Amino acid sequence: MYKLSQNKQDQYLNELIDFLKIPSISADPKYKKSVKEAAVWLANSISLAGCENIEIIPTQGHPIVYGEKIISPNLPTVLVYGHYDVQPPDPVDLWESPPFEPIIKKTDIHPEGAVFARGSCDDKGQMFMHVKALELMISNKDLPCNVKFMIEGEEEVGSDNLEIFIRENSNRLKSDVILISDTGILNNTQPSITTGLRGLSYMEVKVTGPNRDLHSGLYGGTVANPINTLCDMISSLKDSEGKINIPGFYDDVVDLSEEERKEMSKIPFNEQSFKDSLNINSTSGELGFTTQERKSIRPTLDVNGIWGGYTGEGAKTVIPSEAYAKISMRLVPNQNWEKISLLFENHFKKIAPSSVKVSVTTHHGGQAYVTPTNNIAYKAAHLAYEKSFGKAPYSVRDGGSIPIVPLFEEVLKCKTILMGFGLNSDAIHSPNEHFGLFNFFKGIETIPYFYKNFSELFKKSKL
Ligand code: BES
Ligand code: MN
Ligand code: MN
Repeated sequence: MYKLSQNKQDQYLNELIDFLKIPSISADPKYKKSVKEAAVWLANSISLAGCENIEIIPTQGHPIVYGEKIISPNLPTVLVYGHYDVQPPDPVDLWESPPFEPIIKKTDIHPEGAVFARGSCDDKGQMFMHVKALELMISNKDLPCNVKFMIEGEEEVGSDNLEIFIRENSNRLKSDVILISDTGILNNTQPSITTGLRGLSYMEVKVTGPNRDLHSGLYGGTVANPINTLCDMISSLKDSEGKINIPGFYDDVVDLSEEERKEMSKIPFNEQSFKDSLNINSTSGELGFTTQERKSIRPTLDVNGIWGGYTGEGAKTVIPSEAYAKISMRLVPNQNWEKISLLFENHFKKIAPSSVKVSVTTHHGGQAYVTPTNNIAYKAAHLAYEKSFGKAPYSVRDGGSIPIVPLFEEVLKCKTILMGFGLNSDAIHSPNEHFGLFNFFKGIETIPYFYKNFSELFKKSKL
């Protein structure tokens, strides 16, 4: 339908590069202005694409960008969701080019080139494909349905204000399907549709020992060292088989049937290239499950950061007074993140020895999500990938989380289609994040097929 001319490709890429230059880091209050600037840039861009009723909706945090193109009440409505905020670029030293000065480089996996910048894949580049696809459909007068765009600036910090917004505006957001490009495909010759996301529970713990940092010679051997204690406590959270030791943790987990596991094992996955891509000699995880299963359908617990004591130059002999860690758990369907957070908190306090004090706080979280495949929206997406890649997509359950997706279902009573175009190797959240030009243009080409298929199937289903 839409083969992009070189001119159009250059134009779209230059626009994306402009967008990527804005450091819209939602987590860091220093960048509040830049986040706003990205919202304004985006609102302008969706307006130029042909959207109407554009709004930059202020929230307690960062603004939500909204726009719509309503052509007929008799046609179905697609609600496009994405996020224009990005992760902090740290550690900045490890970037080969500055994170907010986008450049195009070729890589082994992206011989056509890839744009390197924070947010290029997650999610500015992927979300921007929808803006350009809509622009194409409107300017060619073949937009087959109504469209609503809702793009937030707080996905990377938990979407708290978007939750409030959707609860208060469920009528205005009424739609027949939610469409998101914020996930990935298997590789550039084998597309896939994400049919599952894990949930998340994110905790922070603090272990306090003596009331001040102590000379480790004068006091060493007489008091608990909070860092040592924290490490002991953390290592007790998993047993030798990689099972999480928190009582009740697995109670609500629904195991996959043998049939489902067999289906899953047919998805192409090469253990050796997985290891090679990470430069590791062996994988590690829960006994009895494959790497593919461990990273998608099984819950996990990981320390994301740990600190305390002296970490500066040279040596300082000290027993620190405090130690901290950020610990997250990825969850699977039917586990409730609030319940899991509470189980964690109670357990962590219970295992603390009397020599220290422990405090536990819950950051954010979200439930897992599974997309059904027996509906017209999934069919439409399946056909769209098949058409643009010339190959049928696999359905793949992913390990990442987009906590607002289950809330869309709860509040808006609407299913989500996760039509991503990124690759796992695109280094999202890491230094040198990039997005393949092939993927960017392929996305713009695939999206209009989805609209067309979905509108046709919708019409048929109403006959
Ligand atoms: N786009 C990602 C989630 C993702 C990426 C899902 C690839 C599946 C495949 C999203 O922006 C993200 O980073 N989510 C966070 C959770 C959020 C609460 C910070 C995550 O998964 O850690
Ligand atoms: Mn994302
Ligand atoms: Mn992200």
